[in-house]
Amino acid sequence: MRIVKFIICYNNLMDRDKNNKLFDKNFLWGASTASHQVEGRTENQWSVWELENANHLSKHPDRKLKKLSNWEEIKPKAENPANYVSGEGVDHYRRFKEDFDLAKSLNLNSFRFGIEWSRIEPEEGLWNQKEIDHYHEYIDELIARGIKPILNLWHWTMPTWFTDMGGFVKSSNVKYFDKFTTKIIQEYGHKLEYIITINEPNVYASYSYLLGTWPPQTKNPFTYVRVMVNLVKAHKNAYRIIKSMNDKIQVGVANQVGNIQAKRPHNIFDEVATKIMRYLWNWWYYERIRNYQDFVGMNYYFTDYYYGIFIKKNPEYPNNDLGWYMEPEGLYPIILRAWTRFKKPIIITENGLADSKDEYRRWWIEESIIAMEKAISEGVDVRGYMHWSLLDNFEWAYGWWPEFGLIHVDRKNNMKRTVRPSAIWYADKIKQLRK
Ligand code: BGC
Repeated sequence: MRIVKFIICYNNLMDRDKNNKLFDKNFLWGASTASHQVEGRTENQWSVWELENANHLSKHPDRKLKKLSNWEEIKPKAENPANYVSGEGVDHYRRFKEDFDLAKSLNLNSFRFGIEWSRIEPEEGLWNQKEIDHYHEYIDELIARGIKPILNLWHWTMPTWFTDMGGFVKSSNVKYFDKFTTKIIQEYGHKLEYIITINEPNVYASYSYLLGTWPPQTKNPFTYVRVMVNLVKAHKNAYRIIKSMNDKIQVGVANQVGNIQAKRPHNIFDEVATKIMRYLWNWWYYERIRNYQDFVGMNYYFTDYYYGIFIKKNPEYPNNDLGWYMEPEGLYPIILRAWTRFKKPIIITENGLADSKDEYRRWWIEESIIAMEKAISEGVDVRGYMHWSLLDNFEWAYGWWPEFGLIHVDRKNNMKRTVRPSAIWYADKIKQLRK
């Protein structure tokens, strides 16, 4: 009798899975990348900074990383200057077709990528036709495989002629980004349905101008605010330019949002800190561009509990390889809050974890899917999910040791690609959810 009951119950569960219509068949199942992190041989302000700082960064990584449980494992890499140089990348610039074949084999129907500004316009006003053609081929190869290209215009890297002029610190420099945007739409606009203008203005401005750990390593709250304001202007201009040239393209930003919670929900300090952080980190930028976005793009990695006066006090486990506390289900409250505030379609433009052993990735993706299912079943218009990342890649100031890829890349063995078990699971899940 028990066995019969179990079989009935199992069948019901399977039917529920088969009939799951929460995700539209056009739901964007994808993965994300950024040009500088994968292409290889980029020449921009970051690559210059890496060469100048690799030695210094490799000197005392223990100061920051010693507390990680995997410190002994990562130590040889973190103490090697080569770790801090993007160099050959994962050679995606040359192997993009092979990578798109892999993306296709994982049942992805969309792919987020960046066009490297410094390749297209190596000198002010000088467009490099060879590179323009490269990205034509790149986009065409995606489309030929039935994968929707989701273009990100700016993911922190810039031509050095632009940063030499002061980059986004100067409001008058935004016109150069306008020109870049115009060129991109003239070239590729007719091939695109979705464009992200700016990736994580909050993260870029904080690390580069407030904490001063990323190029140009400025620590000045006033400069930080100027950069944020100019990035608002850059987005608004780009939005107007894109819409005036092709109003079918859906335009948004990819801001980083955190599931920020009070450690002690009724403690006045915890609550005030939580509210302030939610507004400043999550919503300030979106509020400025409220009427200039067709969708809300969100990158989700962090749940943070605030305790007292702006102190983060997260549970000790589970953590990813970078020591970041993991609460994937935190995607649900953040989706709901964004929906209530903006009532615009939502795309998860990044979401993932550094997990070289692939211990947590399947769990993380599964919980993220459940969070989206929950939100969709309550009427939220969630349009897509881009896992970060398709490939292991260059993790900015941490370098090469953190591995975020659905696909592992062995840089010592001819850049060999190996699909991780969690990716196979993700591919199968997409197939089921699409039925
Ligand atoms: C960035 C990516 C980065 C990822 C993991 C996001 O903040 O957009 O470039 O690699 O997080 O840290």
